[in-house]
Amino acid sequence: MQQYEGWQEFKNKTNEEKAKILSKKDGNLFDLIYAQQFSKDGLEELFLLADTVRKIAKTQKGMNFLRTILSDKRAMLFFVQPSTRTFLSFLNACQILGMQISEIRDTTTSSEVKGESPEDMIRTFSSYVDLIIVRHHDEGFAERAAWTLNFHANRTIPVINGGSGKDQHPTQALLDMYTLKRADKVEGKKIAMVGDLRRGRTVRSLCRLLSLYEGNEIYFVSPKEFAMKQDILNFLDSKGVKYTVTDDLESVAPQVDAIYSTRIQDEHDKDKESSNVDISKFCITEDLINKLKQDAIVMHPFPRRYEIDVKVDKDPRAAYWKQGRNGMWIRIALILKVMQRDKVIYSY
Ligand code: CP
Repeated sequence: MQQYEGWQEFKNKTNEEKAKILSKKDGNLFDLIYAQQFSKDGLEELFLLADTVRKIAKTQKGMNFLRTILSDKRAMLFFVQPSTRTFLSFLNACQILGMQISEIRDTTTSSEVKGESPEDMIRTFSSYVDLIIVRHHDEGFAERAAWTLNFHANRTIPVINGGSGKDQHPTQALLDMYTLKRADKVEGKKIAMVGDLRRGRTVRSLCRLLSLYEGNEIYFVSPKEFAMKQDILNFLDSKGVKYTVTDDLESVAPQVDAIYSTRIQDEHDKDKESSNVDISKFCITEDLINKLKQDAIVMHPFPRRYEIDVKVDKDPRAAYWKQGRNGMWIRIALILKVMQRDKVIYSY
């Protein structure tokens, strides 16, 4: 397959270097591909924007106003890796802002099956729409899409990464931080990340955003087979963030302000290796929740299987259903920002 000139050179840069290249256009946030693109001020701005939109959306008049903000724009949802929450929250976010939407959810229905390159496909999308949101199984697909549009397309439109390969899921980290913020647990707090930390992209992105706030301490709780990778530990060392690596959830639970549980990512197994690991010690049960602080919260990016007992759902500390809804509001804020319509909100 033909390759566009310059891709290998760009691909070999660090994510920090790539983030600098793709982040801004005329001083404004443009493509959103990596969690590294957020600053503390940038996050706080998005949290305030999301809170303001939620207030406006409480009345019919407010909803009618929101529907006018991007009614002249169209979005493409290119979601070819399975997704429920990310897809639906972006879809509803676009609809609330009045955007027209196109979608592809299955590559067997697009010209990829005829051998079209990802670059040509992305350029084709940009002929029709003003924003592309992608979820893809290939690591680096979102950055490749953004790079193509920045350097090779006639129309340069923003790309938002809705999860690309097993590296990062920046908008999930955004909604996780927004959930922590709304629970007043974003600064000077102890957060336990539990489960498959080696292959879970949400925890990797979340570590980066937690490091932007002062005084947070992270507990990585997992079987040794699924321990957090060294690159993230090195990153936390470089930022002076304290962390503990352990397999003892029972001892950690009473100390923390939030537990972030994750699923075993066995879709990445090479030889069914997950089935040999006992994860029963890493599940959030009714017994375990009774050991938590009264004001702690339990989070999970979902989908879950058995790592959080459904009996825990009725406990007021279960925050995972709120996370899903927070995802829609914070993604509205993000879309407003990249489409440069955020100021309109404050004119209401
Ligand atoms: N949390 C998350 O990304 O969920 P989906 O896979 O359902 O989008």
